[in-house]
Amino acid sequence: MRVYEIRGGFGLDKLVYAERPDPEPGPMQVRVRVKATSLNYRDLMMVEGRYNPRQKLPLVPNSDGAGVVDAVGPGVTRVKVGDRVMGLFAQAWLAGEPSRQVQGSTLGGPQDGALADTMLLHEDGAIPTPAHLTDEEASTLPCAAVTAWSALVTQGGIKAGDTVLLQGTGGVSIFALQIARMMGARVILTSSRDDKLERARALGAHEGINYVTTPDWDKTARTLTGGTGVDHVVEVGGAGTFEKSLRAVRLGGTVSVIGVLSGGAGAMALTPILMGNLRVQGVFVGHRQSFEALNRALTLHGVRPVVDRVFPFAETRAAFEHLKSGAHFGKVVIRVE
Ligand SMILES: NC(=O)c1ccc[n+]([C@@H]2O[C@H](COP(=O)([O-])OP(=O)(O)OC[C@H]3O[C@@H](n4cnc5c(N)ncnc54)[C@H](OP(=O)(O)O)[C@@H]3O)[C@@H](O)[C@H]2O)c1
Repeated sequence: MRVYEIRGGFGLDKLVYAERPDPEPGPMQVRVRVKATSLNYRDLMMVEGRYNPRQKLPLVPNSDGAGVVDAVGPGVTRVKVGDRVMGLFAQAWLAGEPSRQVQGSTLGGPQDGALADTMLLHEDGAIPTPAHLTDEEASTLPCAAVTAWSALVTQGGIKAGDTVLLQGTGGVSIFALQIARMMGARVILTSSRDDKLERARALGAHEGINYVTTPDWDKTARTLTGGTGVDHVVEVGGAGTFEKSLRAVRLGGTVSVIGVLSGGAGAMALTPILMGNLRVQGVFVGHRQSFEALNRALTLHGVRPVVDRVFPFAETRAAFEHLKSGAHFGKVVIRVE
């Protein structure tokens, strides 16, 4: 099998092409010929050693992949050869609360991931691909889309008429925009670029705020809600945005803590959380039940992921550099074969 692996240390220079023997599926395992893999910010952090500096190497990165089942091991009944499937981010997380075992079962670290032409999945962690999606589109769902669904729907309990504040135009935020619209919510979205705000409006965002030219975007969001504040914030900015998110949300509203794009640590103001009766909810991607619910909604509404650019397998490094530049809108995909 052909893979890229992080070998001999961290950094984009250490992401190297390699060949490994084709794996045979063991009991309850399925072998997938990967057609496409998408990039998440987490994958970049993993390659650069910022996600888990103690990660054992070599590691095949990338949590997200989609392809076709080409062999099944003993005992497999959920899928068959020829089925189109996507990998479940945390292979052991089917429903309920996460556990240490669930955290240890995530693809693209600590388990080998999808930046390869072949991957082994547990049959429970092979999710049927919605028929209306290409493999490239499907490869974008397992981490970013499931995270946005967990934040807004499974954990957030979003309702028609709610107002949602989204940050930036990366993978999680654009899925959150599409999901919020499917659920009948109003979307306020921030971006560093006016052209990206225009694209977000074309996708259904009701209002856009440029967070560079309007650094007090939290106040603008409050003004846009008549001074009340938004119902939900999907927080991907991290240390640089968290306090403003607390000020943008209404009394009793929810801040879903998802990302650390501007850093993962900082001094935190606790008073607005308690005075505002706020709900600060951590989100760790999501379980299979959420993934399946997301797929039903995407299918019913005919919603397709927003793919920014597709790179060939041989240009994997350029794909990571494109993600790192922040120039993308939506998802960056690598075509594997
Ligand atoms: N907790 C979880 O389960 C989970 C799951 C998925 C992702 N994440 C995390 O969520 C974050 C986003 O992931 P992603 O894959 O969607 O990333 P991504 O696609 O790389 O998103 C990058 C975009 O975010 C925006 N951005 C960057 N810094 C910002 C800031 N300070 N304020 C507002 N927007 C900012 C920019 O949009 P503009 O160019 O429009 O300004 C940038 O293009 C990452 O930290 C990732 O690790 C967590």
